[in-house]
Amino acid sequence: MTPTTPKVPKAPEEVTEGGLAWGRRVLMCSPEHFDVTYSINVWMDPDVRVDFDRAWRQWDDLVSTLETAGTEVRTVPAAPGLPDMVFTANAGIVDGTTVTPARMSRPERAPEVEHVGSRFEELGWTVERPPAAPQEGAGDAVAFAGGLVAGYGRRSSASAYDDLRTRNGWTVTALELPDPRYYHVDLGFCPLDERTAMVVPEAFNATGRAALAEIVEDPVVLTPDEAAAFCANAVVSGQTVVMPHCSPRLGRELERRGFEPAVCDVSEFGKAGGGCRCLTLALDVELDRAAAPSTVGVEG
Ligand code: ARG
Repeated sequence: MTPTTPKVPKAPEEVTEGGLAWGRRVLMCSPEHFDVTYSINVWMDPDVRVDFDRAWRQWDDLVSTLETAGTEVRTVPAAPGLPDMVFTANAGIVDGTTVTPARMSRPERAPEVEHVGSRFEELGWTVERPPAAPQEGAGDAVAFAGGLVAGYGRRSSASAYDDLRTRNGWTVTALELPDPRYYHVDLGFCPLDERTAMVVPEAFNATGRAALAEIVEDPVVLTPDEAAAFCANAVVSGQTVVMPHCSPRLGRELERRGFEPAVCDVSEFGKAGGGCRCLTLALDVELDRAAAPSTVGVEG
């Protein structure tokens, strides 16, 4: 996004089809006000200094890697005093041109939602009301096979998903997150296509692992080291998997399924407990909707 970043997006005909039906358009927020000034997850230590120049370089590199892979990057202006606003994945849940804003569980992040909501309005989107209970956006509700794989128990609450199911008719597989290191579901689960996903077993309990085994035909199971390096926090753009780290083993697993890993070092953002995926919000997600009972018979 800076003039120094060479941008060579692939022409549409060069972009190999496959992978997910979404991930070709994302919303990001520059690290202008990024910092670690408080601790709301186990990775954050306000005594650790952020290298701001490095954070900018890493963010620019992520943008150009995504663009080269064929993903269009849109931005929301960063706001002072909101050091975690770079993590746009938490802003809301996208379905078509409707966004359901997050209800942030931590007061430090609550004001972000207003800023992102205004940006969506500017883009002509419909901005719904947030769920009544905490729910931290797509970071805790990842689109998979027409529905959502969602996390609760750390930042989002299970009842938020009841609300969203009722309102929208979405299929939500809500999974408890027992491990404080994997406090958002996008640190433990990453869809690669309709039947394949990277999965971090320790991010879920036995019930959650069984639920995932039901819906993911071909799981790529991460080792504890890969999980802790946030390998699952990846952005999938066609066949390209843009990830903060990739072991040779995982690289082979991805390649043998036709995917191509592209590593982007986002270690400065790792100090806040985030990786590549957290820094993006997919704007081209379409979810399946059963008849939503709350809207039946209501004409607006
Ligand atoms: N410091 C941020 C927080 O704790 C990091 C958010 C990471 N986002 C994500 N989707 N996993 O809220």
